[in-house]
Formats: sequence, C-alpha cells, structure tokens
Amino acid sequence: MKKLAVIILAAGKGERMVSDRPKVLHHVLGKSLLGHVISAAQTLHPEKIIVVVGHKSDDVKKAFEKEASIEWVFQEQQLGTAHAVLCAKQALKDFEGEVLILYGDAPLLRAETLKEMREVSEKSHADLLLATAHFQQPSGYGRILRNHYGKIREIVEEKEASAEEKKIHEINPGIYLLDADLLHFLDKIEKSIAKGEYYLTDIVVESVKQKRIIETYAVAHEDEVKGINNKSQLAEATKILQKRINEEWMSKGVTMVSPETTFIETSVILEADVILHPGVVITGNSKIGKGSEILAYSVIEESVVGSGVRIGPFAHLRPASVVGDEAHVGNFVELKKTTLGKGSKANHLAYLGDAVIGEKANIGAGTITCNYDGEKKFQTIIEDGAFIGSDTQLVAPVKVGKKAYVGSGTTVTKDVPDGALALSRIEQKNIPNWKKKGK
Ligand code: UD1
Ligand code: CA
Repeated sequence: MKKLAVIILAAGKGERMVSDRPKVLHHVLGKSLLGHVISAAQTLHPEKIIVVVGHKSDDVKKAFEKEASIEWVFQEQQLGTAHAVLCAKQALKDFEGEVLILYGDAPLLRAETLKEMREVSEKSHADLLLATAHFQQPSGYGRILRNHYGKIREIVEEKEASAEEKKIHEINPGIYLLDADLLHFLDKIEKSIAKGEYYLTDIVVESVKQKRIIETYAVAHEDEVKGINNKSQLAEATKILQKRINEEWMSKGVTMVSPETTFIETSVILEADVILHPGVVITGNSKIGKGSEILAYSVIEESVVGSGVRIGPFAHLRPASVVGDEAHVGNFVELKKTTLGKGSKANHLAYLGDAVIGEKANIGAGTITCNYDGEKKFQTIIEDGAFIGSDTQLVAPVKVGKKAYVGSGTTVTKDVPDGALALSRIEQKNIPNWKKKGK
C-alpha cells in the first residue's frame, strides 16, 4: 500500500455551537470531537497526522499535548476548507503517497470504514476516492451531482444548491482520499460567491477538468458520517455512540437493564457478567471486573472495580478509587482516591477520601474521613478486619489498626492500635423528670 498522510481540519470556530469553547473540543462520551477523529486516523498508522488549527488554537493544541506525533498547522483566517488544506500543503512538500482529508467535527467515523476506503482506493487506482452517503435529511450537507453515466461531476454546497439539487439525498460526508499531487489543484479553486470561502469540495470539479480518475465510496451507515455543527447534533452524536458502545459491551457479555440510560465512555473496560442498572455512568479509564453489579444511578469515574463487587444504588466513585473483589459500596457512599480492600463493606452514607482500607473491614453508616484541613489533604489508613462504628469521623492523618474497633460516634484523632477499642463519646447523662411543667 502507498504511504499515507492524514490532514484533519479543525480551525473553525463553529459559530452555531454558541460557545466559548472551540467546536472541536466539545465532548462526545468523554472524548472531544477532534479526539475521536484523531483516534480513527491513528488506527491507519499514517506517516503523518497534520491538524489544521486556527480559532483558539492554543486551547486545541493544549488538549492534545500528550499526542507528540501530531503536526500542528496554523490557519490564521478561516477562509474555507480548501484554504485550510492549502495551509497544510507545505508540511507535505516532499511527501509522495496518499492523503486522507477529514473534518474534525465528524466524531462517529469508524476506523473500519477508513481501512476499507484505502483498500478500495488501491484496487480502483482512483486519484480521488470520495466517500458519499445517503441521508434521509440531507439539509446542511454538500450534495453529490452525477453525470448521465452516474459518474460524480461536482459537489454543490447547500447555500449554492438549486431547489432541484436540494432534493438530492446523496451527500458529501467530507472524507477525501487522494493522491498527494492532487493538492496542486487547490491553488485553482476560486472563492464561492455565496459564502466567500474557498471550498475543498471544488477539488472534484478541478479533478474532473484534469481528467483524473474519481471514484466514490458509499458509506453503509449514515450515522457514521454525521458532522456536528450545533448542540442538538452533538447530543444526537452522543446517543449514536452510546448505542454503539453499549451494544458492543452487551455482545461481550455485559448485562444492561436499560442501555438507553447507561453511559459508558470509550476508554472504559468491562468484563463479562457485569450487570449495569438504569442510570449508571462510567467514565475515563475505569475498569469493572467480572460479575460485578452496579446498581441504579451510580457514577464511576476513572476507577478500578474488582470482580463480584456490588456498588450503589446512588454511589459515587471519584477518580483513582480502587474497589477490591467482593467488596460492597452502598447507597450515598462517596469514594475519592481511596482503596477499599477485598470483601470490605461501606454500605451506607459515607465519605471516604484519600484512604487506604484493608480487607474485610466494615465501615459504618455516616463515617467520614476528614482528609482536608483547608490547605492540605491527609491520608487515613484502616487495616484488615477493622470495624468502624456509625457516625465516626476519622481526622487524618490517622491509622486504625488490624481488627481494631471504633465505637459509634467517635472522633478519631489518634492512631488506634491493632485490636484496640477507640471511644471518644462523652458519657450519657439522664436528667430525671425533665418533662416540661404543665404539659
Ligand atoms: C462541509 C462541506 C460539506 C459537507 C460537510 C460534512 C465544504 C465546503 N463543505 O460543510 O460539503 O457536506 O462539511 O460535514 O467543505 N474548517 C477549517 N478552516 C476553515 C473552514 C473550516 O479548518 O477555514 C474546518 C472546521 O473546523 C470543521 C471542518 O473544517 O471541522 C468543516 O467545516 P464546516 O464549516 O463545519 O463545514 P460544513 O459547512 O459543515
Ligand atoms: Ca461541519
């Protein structure tokens, strides 16, 4: 196969998002629009990935500072998609091979489709292979115009399309695979009258003029190539991706009671026989082990859950939490940067932050780790088999030893030795005949 370079266009502001945030940094299930496109491009292992940025380019670059292999190109003024690609031309000066051009606002594109397009391009010897799709509602997209032989001759943008042309359902999703030397045609593209922009879509007319071989590739699923221009389309994309992700996990043995209310981000890993109840949200690099059950309305962020665990309903695992096998985290329990050991239980109403809890410990209702003094965070250690009575405050840094017992209502300010009982309650006083006079 020929060498491949990818250009992703991401310089636009995206006015219709009505946002301070650049359009391509809006998220769909935990990953930005541009992040999804970059991930799809990376699966092709191209020689280069060039991203064209402009509006708030520093913010966009910062969001990808860990991706060292991306080459950033700056488009100072957003004069249109053809102009954006022209900005990247210099970075491909000595490049020979194929160039894949993608728009940074189409996050649902699947890697498989791009791979297939490369194969089709190779087999058909096309100079330009253009994806097309059939949309029930094509409005807003560029329409594909074909000649009598069915060959593509032009793409007409919505703004310029005649009433007849607007009836065409075949649209341009904005995926172009072309021979690097076709980039020279970009210089010939003229400004559109309607929008005053240089349209990349005009590369088709130029290629026709130059008698180059142009083929089209029909994308099977219309969902995959939807572009995001406003918040309503952003929500629609989330819904489509949610369904795709959930169906994949169900095919791998995860049970979802209500997949339409379950949100699993792309980077999450679930094992077989995990059961997810309605309203569960799992984000970041979270992992849930075999047979664990997450009850309704629980949120798990960037955390690792072992196997045979029960979490929720209404539990919240904040980042960097680790729940050991067979442990229980019950309703209204919040964990933050906390490890709960194997078989340990925190069944009701607790805040456990910056804590390391051993195996088979019991954390009573209303237990709170007081981990923050207003300036710094401190750690609480609870060792194996310890029993923390209800309504205990653990003022960190503090340690409760193995099989130690903390009586209900205790404020623990000193370490509790192994096997000891800690109590800090004042003794109960009963005042007799207290009943108010006259009542
Ligand atoms: C574009 C296509 C249209 C297609 C649709 C698919 C053109 C002229 N039109 O329209 O045929 O059906 O996408 O979703 O290409 N961008 C830049 N610099 C610019 C202008 C745009 O980098 O000067 C980037 C944007 O950030 C965006 C992408 O290019 O990520 C597409 O631009 P957008 O304005 O969304 O194009 P559409 O009007 O949707
Ligand atoms: Ca768009």
